[in-house]
Amino acid sequence: MLKMTKTIFKITAIVGCAAITLSSCSNENPPLVYFPDMYFPVAYDPLAKAQDAYSKHENEIPAFVKNNGATGLGPIDGTVAQNPEGLADPAANKAMVPLEYNEFYDASKLITASPLDPANQAKDITRGKLLYEQTCSACHGSAGDGQGSIVVSGAYSGVPKYADRELTIGSVHYVLTHGRNSMGSYAGQLKPGDRWRVSLYIMSEFKGGLSAAPAVVAANATPATDMAAPAASSTSPKK
Ligand code: HEC
Repeated sequence: MLKMTKTIFKITAIVGCAAITLSSCSNENPPLVYFPDMYFPVAYDPLAKAQDAYSKHENEIPAFVKNNGATGLGPIDGTVAQNPEGLADPAANKAMVPLEYNEFYDASKLITASPLDPANQAKDITRGKLLYEQTCSACHGSAGDGQGSIVVSGAYSGVPKYADRELTIGSVHYVLTHGRNSMGSYAGQLKPGDRWRVSLYIMSEFKGGLSAAPAVVAANATPATDMAAPAASSTSPKK
């Protein structure tokens, strides 16, 4: 009697194990994932119609129907535009290889006028100065001599005097937008129009004005040394 019970027990165990093992191989019963959108979240554009990633059925969320299915709402009345002058440069967001970086840097030296309205120049320079003091002077110094507070403290070095560099308003704008060697990009801190205002301030305060921009002949003089080894460069072109 005892022997038979043991045999039944063994058979049950073997059949049971086989059943479990084989059933997990079946294509019809793939492993379950509860709440798949928690494990595999779907990035979606809040201003576009929301798509259901796991089924083909139409997602009609009543609250958003009048918004074309978008869950995000458009800007409310009175929203302040990020780029009121329309000066945003889409290329500022482009990842560049060092060769491209140098090519565009050289080209930027040819730009000797800002796209800002010359009628507002005095106001633009005043704002440029404020932003320069807030954003750049910690390194470059209020006098543009490369002796900002963090340089004087000894925490950072290698900041040039503007007087020692070949600059045009275009190249200052390019460098503050894309960075250069150990200087990072400040595009994230300054709005498109303000980038030109800071450049305008630097040219008028430290380089004797826009018209005093050096000849283009020297354009290749500076980048060649620092940028010679593309792999080692840290121009931080990806924004
Ligand atoms: C963290 C310190 C730091 C800050 C902040 C900084 N810079 Fe620089 N900047 C540097 C360094 C270092 C260099 C030298 C880069 C090189 O090797 O050519 C430099 C170089 C420059 C040059 C010369 C580039 C050339 O073509 O030779 C310009 C123009 C310039 N910075 C503008 C700015 C402006 C405008 C700001 C503020 C928006 C700013 N920098 C903020 C560190 C800084």
